Amino acid sequence: CGIVGYIGNRQASSILLDGLRRLEYRGYDSAGMALNGGGENLRILKRAGRIDNLRQAVTEANPLGTMGISHTRWATHGPATDVNAHPHPDQNGKLVLVHNGVIENYQTLRDQLTAKGHTFLSQTDTEVLSHLVGTYFDESKEPDGTLRLVNAVKAALARVKGTYGIAVMHADLPGVIVGARLGSPLIVGLGDHEHFLASDVSAVVAHTRDVVYLNDYDIVTITKDRYDVQSHQGVPAEVKVSRVEFSADDAEKGEFPHFMLKEIYEQPNSLRNAMRGRLSRDECTAIMGGLNMSPKELVQIDRIILAGCGTAYHAAMVGEYLIESLARVPTEVEIASEFRYRNVPANKNTLQFVMSQSGETIDTLAAMREGQRKGIRCLGIVNTVGSTIARESDGGVYIHAGPEIGVAATKTFTSQVTILTLLSLLLGRIHHLSSVDGLEMIDELEALPDKIVQILKQADKIKAIAEKHCHAEGMLFMGRQMNYPVALEGALKMKEISYIYASGHPSAELKHGVIALVKPDMPSVFIAPDDAVFDKNVSNIEEVRARKGPVIAVTTEGRTELERITDDVIYVPDCPSYLTPILNVVPLQLLSYYTAVARGCDVDKPRNLAKSVTVE
Ligand code: G6P
Repeated sequence: CGIVGYIGNRQASSILLDGLRRLEYRGYDSAGMALNGGGENLRILKRAGRIDNLRQAVTEANPLGTMGISHTRWATHGPATDVNAHPHPDQNGKLVLVHNGVIENYQTLRDQLTAKGHTFLSQTDTEVLSHLVGTYFDESKEPDGTLRLVNAVKAALARVKGTYGIAVMHADLPGVIVGARLGSPLIVGLGDHEHFLASDVSAVVAHTRDVVYLNDYDIVTITKDRYDVQSHQGVPAEVKVSRVEFSADDAEKGEFPHFMLKEIYEQPNSLRNAMRGRLSRDECTAIMGGLNMSPKELVQIDRIILAGCGTAYHAAMVGEYLIESLARVPTEVEIASEFRYRNVPANKNTLQFVMSQSGETIDTLAAMREGQRKGIRCLGIVNTVGSTIARESDGGVYIHAGPEIGVAATKTFTSQVTILTLLSLLLGRIHHLSSVDGLEMIDELEALPDKIVQILKQADKIKAIAEKHCHAEGMLFMGRQMNYPVALEGALKMKEISYIYASGHPSAELKHGVIALVKPDMPSVFIAPDDAVFDKNVSNIEEVRARKGPVIAVTTEGRTELERITDDVIYVPDCPSYLTPILNVVPLQLLSYYTAVARGCDVDKPRNLAKSVTVE
C-alpha cells in the first residue's frame, strides 16, 4: 500500500494524486484522500478501483486545501470497496488516518470500542486504529493541539499489536500532520515551505530529492515549515537528510508501452551498473567494499544463508549453485517467510544475505532480524537505496538497477544474480580460483550486456511464439541445475502477468508426476543451454513430444538440432554455464510479457499483486 501526505502552500489534491500515481505499483485496488481546507470538516474522497477513479472524483468535487493525506490500498482486511478505502475517519469524523500494515489485535480493540458505543463503517483494521487515536485525542486535556495529537497517536499505538506506517490529521489542527512507523516504511520529503510524508521516495521525488528515512518507533510531526522526529518516549530522534539518487523521469515509462518492457530493455545497462567499479582486473577479483569484511574474515565463512521472497528467492537459488560451484562454500537458500519461523542452526562463521528489490518486504526484513538475533552477520543485496533492509543490515551491496515499477520483477532479477556471481568470484578467489580463472570470469561478465542486446533483438520472434500459445490452458517450465530456478522464475512471470497457470520443475522431475499434465494445449518451455546436461534435457523434451505436448526451447546459438524436436526455438548467445541463468531468463520475461499483452492483461499492475509487500 502507499501513503502520501502533503502540507505547504500549494493545493494538495493534485500533489497527492500525482504521488499516488507514482506509488500505484504498491497496491491499486482502491484509493482515497482527505483534505483539510480549514473549515469545520475534512473533505474525504475514496474510490474502489484504480487511481483514475479517484482522479475523476477529485476533478468533479475539486476539493480545496493546502494539506492532506492519501492512500492507495492493497486489501488485507475487507474487500476493495469505496468504504474500505483509506483514509478512515474516527467516530466523530474529525480525525482521519491512512495506514499501511496490519493491526493484528484489531478485533479485540474493535469489540472494546463497540462496547463503548463506537460504530464502524468498514471492515478494516485501520478504521479501528483511527477510532482509537480519536478517542485519546478527544479525552485529552492537553492545551497544545499538536502535542495532543502526538500523544493520542502514541497512546493508541501503545495498544496495537502489529505493523504500521500511518499518517493522521485532525480537522481542528489545520497546520499539522502526524506520522509514525513500525515495520512499514515512511519517509519525510523536505521542500521549500512544504513537507511531504510518503511510504516511498518515488512519491515525492518530483518535488524534492531531500528526504529523511524514518526508523521503527519514530513519530514525526510535519508542518509547512518544520518537521520534528521523536521516539515514542518523546526523545528527539537522530535524523539524517539523504539525497535521492534518481529523478522523477527515471520512474516514467517514456516511449515504452509498459514499465515491464522498459525494464526488460534496461537490462544491458542495469547489469553494467551492477558491475561498475566492482571488477578488478589487477587483482582478478570482485571488489565489494559494502560487505564490510576483510579477506581474513571472509575466508572464515563456512556457511552462507540466502533468504528472499518471490523473484529474489529465485535469484538466491541461482546464487546457491554459483557460490557452491565457484567458491565451494556450503550455501543454503531459504524462503524468507519460512526462515523467520525456523530455528536455523548458526555459528560465528555463518554469513547471511537477504535479497530484496524493495528492501522493505516484511518477511525478508524479519528473516534478517531473526538472523541478527542469532548473532549472524546479515548483509543485504538490495535495490532501493535507504530502504529499511539497507539501513538495518550489517552491510551489503546495492544492485543499482534503478527504480523498478512494473510489479513483475525483471531487471532486478538479473542484477541480483550478477551480484551473486561477483560474490562467487570474490569468495572463489579467496579460496581456490586462480587469477587466470578470475580474469576469465571478469571477461565473461563484462560481455553479458551486449549478449542481452542480442537477445532483445529477437523480441518479434518471441512475440509471435507468445501469440501462438497465449490461449494455452497452462504452461510447464523445465530446467536443470542453475536453470531450474530460471524455470521457476519463468513460470512465476507467466502466472503473475498473464494469469496462465504455470509451474517450474527440474527437467528430470517431469516423469515423476508433472508429465501427467502434458497435452496439446499445455506447452512446455525447456531451458536447455549447451552445457553438461544438454543431452539429458533433450531426452526430457522427447518424453514430452511423445505425448503430443508442444515444446518451446531456449538454447544456445548453434544447437540447431533442437529445431527438429521442438515447435519453437529461441537462441541465446554462448556463455559459460554459470552465466546462463542471466541470459536465459530474458526470453522468458519477454515470453510472459507478450503473452500477457496478447491476452489483454494489465501488465504493470496484475490483479491481486503489489510490488512491495509490507505485510506478513
Ligand atoms: C512481491 C512482488 C515480487 C517480488 C517479491 C519480493 O511479491 O510482487 O515481484 O519478487 O515481492 O520483493 P522484494 O522487494 O523483497 O524483492
